[in-house]
Amino acid sequence: MYLKEFLAKYKTQYPPAAVEYIMNNFGKMLPLDNPDILNQVYDALGMYKDEIPYADYLKLLEKYFDISSNILEIGGGFYPAFATHVHNRQLQTKKGTITVYDKMLVTQNLSGIKLVKKDFNIKDSVSQYDLLVGILPCEATTLIIKKANEENKNFFIVLCNCTHFSRQYLMFNQPSLEKWREHIKETFEETKKAGDEMLILDSPAKNTDYKVLIKQKK
Ligand SMILES: C[S@@+](CC[C@H](N)C(=O)[O-])C[C@H]1O[C@@H](n2cnc3c(N)ncnc32)[C@H](O)[C@@H]1O
Repeated sequence: MYLKEFLAKYKTQYPPAAVEYIMNNFGKMLPLDNPDILNQVYDALGMYKDEIPYADYLKLLEKYFDISSNILEIGGGFYPAFATHVHNRQLQTKKGTITVYDKMLVTQNLSGIKLVKKDFNIKDSVSQYDLLVGILPCEATTLIIKKANEENKNFFIVLCNCTHFSRQYLMFNQPSLEKWREHIKETFEETKKAGDEMLILDSPAKNTDYKVLIKQKK
């Protein structure tokens, strides 16, 4: 597929500013440490295979978890690139499901992937899933941690380097990446069940300095 075909298919579902961004920057930049919008398009078009991080994240996920399980990805993005990698692996193992929530999804029709075009809410149940995943899930990060702890589930999160503090916090504190990472650890500690532990690893993808958070129940 070429960009023209991709946009012909999905353009109307993107916010106009996002389409403009894609058209202006396509092929000119590979945003490694922040915007995902172009990476999702490159991935869908099979471009920059050695640079795009989703395959590296999946490889790391598979070191810790069974890919043939029922996986919920919260914050899949406009085009759910990571979920397509999960689905392709599940086609090989012939087992497992992948569900994606994001109100920004530009499609709800990708074979084998359950796409839910809305925000995941803290009140939604995760009982049917084995693993919660967030790839740079922005403000959904704490939600994933709390929900996994509440319902005793595992998680795999690639933590954003942008911070997502509450408005109350920002009234009295200056945000920083260091404080954000600390806040995330505290959120885990405050909501975990006895014996739960969270591993904090470096990103496996080159040119990224994200942290990866893993909760694996014993
Ligand atoms: C930085 S983007 C990452 C997209 C994608 N995971 C990627 O790396 O290509 C963060 C996404 O999280 C989504 N998001 C934030 N809160 C959410 C929630 N409560 N439920 C579902 N998606 C959410 C946003 O709409 C946005 O698309």
